[in-house]
Amino acid sequence: MTVSYTTNALSGRARCLNPDNINPHVKEAKYAVRGELAVKAEEYRVKLAQGDKSLPFDSVIFANIGNPQQLDQKPITFFRQVLSLLENPALLDNPEVLRTSFGYQQDVVDRAKTLLADVQSVGAYSHSQGAPIIRRSVANFIEQRDGFPANPQDLFLTAGASSGVSNILNVICSSPETGVLVPIPQYPLYTATLALLNARCVPYHLEEDKAWGTDVNAIRASLEKAKAAGTDVRSIVVINPGNPTGASLSPDDIKSVLDLAAEEKLVVMADEVYQTNVFEGEFTSFKKRLRQLQQEQPGKYDNVELVSLHSVSKGMVGECGQRGGYFELVGFDPLVTAQIYKLVSIGLCPPVIGQCLLELMVNPPKAGEPSHELYQKEYNAIRDGLHKRALALYEAFQRMEGVECQKPQGAMYLFPSITLPQKAVDAAAAENRAADEFYCLRLLDATGVCVVPGSGFGQKENTLHFRTTFLAPGTDWVERIVKFHSEFMAKYK
Ligand SMILES: Cc1ncc(COP(=O)(O)O)c(C=O)c1O
Repeated sequence: MTVSYTTNALSGRARCLNPDNINPHVKEAKYAVRGELAVKAEEYRVKLAQGDKSLPFDSVIFANIGNPQQLDQKPITFFRQVLSLLENPALLDNPEVLRTSFGYQQDVVDRAKTLLADVQSVGAYSHSQGAPIIRRSVANFIEQRDGFPANPQDLFLTAGASSGVSNILNVICSSPETGVLVPIPQYPLYTATLALLNARCVPYHLEEDKAWGTDVNAIRASLEKAKAAGTDVRSIVVINPGNPTGASLSPDDIKSVLDLAAEEKLVVMADEVYQTNVFEGEFTSFKKRLRQLQQEQPGKYDNVELVSLHSVSKGMVGECGQRGGYFELVGFDPLVTAQIYKLVSIGLCPPVIGQCLLELMVNPPKAGEPSHELYQKEYNAIRDGLHKRALALYEAFQRMEGVECQKPQGAMYLFPSITLPQKAVDAAAAENRAADEFYCLRLLDATGVCVVPGSGFGQKENTLHFRTTFLAPGTDWVERIVKFHSEFMAKYK
């Protein structure tokens, strides 16, 4: 796969850097979500914006990435009202105008003042772990969610979950033999970061025919194989609810992972950024399950090290451009925590406005407060809209020949499998492409809908998939996919 950038090749040694002498691990890292297809989709978008009428579609649908507000999801009013006051505190001098002209409620003003009293200015660096008052709010949120205490000192606020993952993997990966168990299919942040760190990805396959469940026997088999190959396996990543699968782990599945972690001394990285995007069943956090098990069987789970991550990017908040999130450490050696603290402090602090947004996410207006009704209305509308669109897309996939899809369970994606005619597979091979990549490129060229081939997330050998978000409004784009698919299948029959 090649990504085209404007190049200005100079001969000889006019420059210090060339592709052959830069860090090779940067070149090895792959991140399909923003790869060739996304670059091409952007080119199409620009062409359409310039009035080009030669394309067979009139809009580009970025279904390749979970970026809700790019696809017209409106921000929640309470969040943005408070943020506006944080950015421009001078507005607080005109409370009457805020109220009468802009409809700001008193709780908006109060919250902005509380946050400003703590951070002083969103233009100032905060504590490297994040502003204390915000960590206290996050700890309260975790306590209410799980029914177990949380300590603000164990919380690190981040610039989105991605920077948390990067920091933790930087600490875990100490040599080229270090291995991390990663679910396949997975969100490619994990494989990409491991490639950057020159560490080993130890894949374990999720079970597609069991609604993308986690099979601990498959994990054990991968672990043993990796150990036999000299890999020092130190950690297991679990994405719950899953990306790209949407599957949520049951409390029993979580216990199986924690049992394995306890036996094998593995750091559990629980990526829980989709914890509120759950349509089927209920979300159980790894932290809650760990605390329950520690009570039920004292001793056995005492040394389990758990990092759980959350973010403002997903859920009904969808503020991924603001870059806010946190991770919580449980069971870590204090001397390791001190090194993690030093590492994050090298980056000074996470964006303060993102920290404030995180505070609003974990501490939204409560029943009886002036902004509550509107907040709840907006929140529910986003949640119901996502579910409705997920089901509409799922129903469309059921109409498509050779396409099989698990019922939507959560997150923001569907990950159907596709069985393509041999002629299509041959045509892909002739272009030196994986068959799912070929299919997704043709889909983009014909419809303007940008999805990501399954190969970008990993998939079992001899299977093909693609991942699409269900964020885009309307159903026109879904029908574009259905039409394209039947024409594609007819062409390569
Ligand atoms: C499973 C998973 N983890 C982490 C992230 C990154 O989130 P953030 O925007 O908080 O960095 C994503 C983004 O899509 C994701 O799907």
